[in-house]
Amino acid sequence: MSILDKVVAAVAPPESDEARAEARAKAQSAASAGDWLSMVLEHHRQIEDAFRAVKAATSAAARVSAQKELAVLLTGHSIAEEAVLYPALVAADEKAHATKAYTEQSAAKTQMGLLETIPPMTQDYLDKLEHIRGAVAHHVYEEEGTWFLELKEKVASAEQTRLSKRYEEEFSRYVGESSTKRPKALRSGRSLR
Ligand SMILES: [Fe+2]
Repeated sequence: MSILDKVVAAVAPPESDEARAEARAKAQSAASAGDWLSMVLEHHRQIEDAFRAVKAATSAAARVSAQKELAVLLTGHSIAEEAVLYPALVAADEKAHATKAYTEQSAAKTQMGLLETIPPMTQDYLDKLEHIRGAVAHHVYEEEGTWFLELKEKVASAEQTRLSKRYEEEFSRYVGESSTKRPKALRSGRSLR
């Protein structure tokens, strides 16, 4: 089993729902309005909603459409983190955490690509979707509970401002709209929140 396979091998994240809620609350209290961390937390919530929408779809067409929305959001968010926030982790002497973050997101991208090749209304599809959802949930927990708190603590205020601008720029470049608003891919008339 390759490293990329191992990252998504466990169905359920190892931490409890309570631990994840606690990490999110802590990260939320470290964030301020409009900063990179508040944008990241909003995108994490949107990603969770998008996973739920894929699972809940009742036809193949609806599921494929929901999967595309999830993929746009996941890719736009991960590109912004990989271009802006993980380099900042390296600069803050957290290279091991940055390496783990890049590896986990590569695994998620790989598995999302493979998901497209599975018939959408099958159990195999739902099993892979759940593997990816669990791996992403664990990754989000690591970001919110540890890695991004390190960035908030270690990075000077002027650099925090630059990170916020750059995160928004990279996310918008992919998703096509300011990250403070609902991403274009999710503006299909139905509410995912
Ligand atoms: Fe993230």
